[in-house]
Amino acid sequence: MSFTFTPERRARLDEVIGRYPRKEAALLPALRMAEEQAGCVDYDAMEHVAEILGVSPAKVLGVFTFYTHYRRPGTGRHLVQVCATLPCALRGAEGVFDAFAKELGIGKDETTKDGLFTLKKVECLASCGTAVCVQINDDYVENVTPDKVAGIVKDLREKK
Ligand code: FES
Repeated sequence: MSFTFTPERRARLDEVIGRYPRKEAALLPALRMAEEQAGCVDYDAMEHVAEILGVSPAKVLGVFTFYTHYRRPGTGRHLVQVCATLPCALRGAEGVFDAFAKELGIGKDETTKDGLFTLKKVECLASCGTAVCVQINDDYVENVTPDKVAGIVKDLREKK
């Protein structure tokens, strides 16, 4: 196992664990901390989290794969997540997704060859009032329409 939390993160995780009646309740924040530390969550990180929380690695994997929001190894620098749930769908999410796919030259769950972008469809991002909502890394881009996509991608490319 090559992933271990830094002492500072481990202390923070222990503090979070202390807020719950059972250690395994801290699974989601533990995965988020692993992601913060390593830039993604790999199997080593999942095993480490499982050991700390006293659960099986399979349980951690099951939770990890249930959520689309965690970064997997190989995820591009800009993780573009287009909400595809009903309110966003009714406001044109499919067209927004297609515009990103065309602009980036990739499909669902794919990463551009230069490693800059990964494109995903996700469930509700809890910003239904500003549909179509797209999460790019930790930021929300709201009221997205297909005609805005080229500009969004251009800005991200310039940021690198
Ligand atoms: S349905 Fe898209 S943010 Fe809720």
